[in-house]
Amino acid sequence: MDINLPRHVGIIMDGNGRWAKRRHRPRSYGHNAGMDAMIQIVKRAKEWDIRYVTVYALSTENLKNRPQEELDELFNLLRKYFSNHVKELHKRGAKVRVIGDKEPLPADVKQLLEEGENNSPPDGEFTLTFAINYGGRAEIARAAEILREQNAEITEQSLESRLYTAGIPEPDLIIRTGGEVRLSNFLLWQAAYAELYFTPVLFPDFTPGEFDKALKEYSRRTRRFGGI
Ligand code: IPE
Ligand code: IPE
Ligand code: MG
Repeated sequence: MDINLPRHVGIIMDGNGRWAKRRHRPRSYGHNAGMDAMIQIVKRAKEWDIRYVTVYALSTENLKNRPQEELDELFNLLRKYFSNHVKELHKRGAKVRVIGDKEPLPADVKQLLEEGENNSPPDGEFTLTFAINYGGRAEIARAAEILREQNAEITEQSLESRLYTAGIPEPDLIIRTGGEVRLSNFLLWQAAYAELYFTPVLFPDFTPGEFDKALKEYSRRTRRFGGI
């Protein structure tokens, strides 16, 4: 494929629960399948030399509004991923970052996430960012609070540099699977000029081939950034 590729892709990994329901299985079954799908997508992104991938794994609203049982399953998945796959990523020169508020997470999960970040190679050529207990509004409010504490001038640049994503270029493409056409509080500030791609495919069915379709569509878009 000779196409114009995004540097940074954000993915709202939605539809795991419905995928499981269709199979008469518990929602956790869908989350497990979603994790497998994510691993394949990350591999494909690296093959394309896409430098940054950010995946929405848990929103601030998910943490508030989902039953504890489901949250526990999601924490177990994070435990599994961060104690196995992350080391592999590091070995292959990838950096791992976590954006969001880790404070309310179970202590061992918080620690695993921090280890994943801290053991990352300093100048990895690929960065995988997990949005966990992440909300765009909370992120912007937090950045404003930091600016106030520092008595710093408020500009777009100063605020941006206090976001969780400081240092990561803004997403060029945001993909949402699962059929809903909304951002659900994902990268609100950073998405200002992102190209949006929505697909009805449920996340566990979002194969590397489906990812390629999104890239192809992206390559056909004209980005004007307000110009003509
Ligand atoms: C997305 O899948 C994953 C998380 C929010 C953790 P959902 O769990 O929202 O699946 P649906 O939307 O109910 O199908
Ligand atoms: C968005 O999906 C959050 C993640 C994918 C982590 P949701 O399923 O929580 O979004 P809504 O509730 O349909 O907006
Ligand atoms: Mg959902």
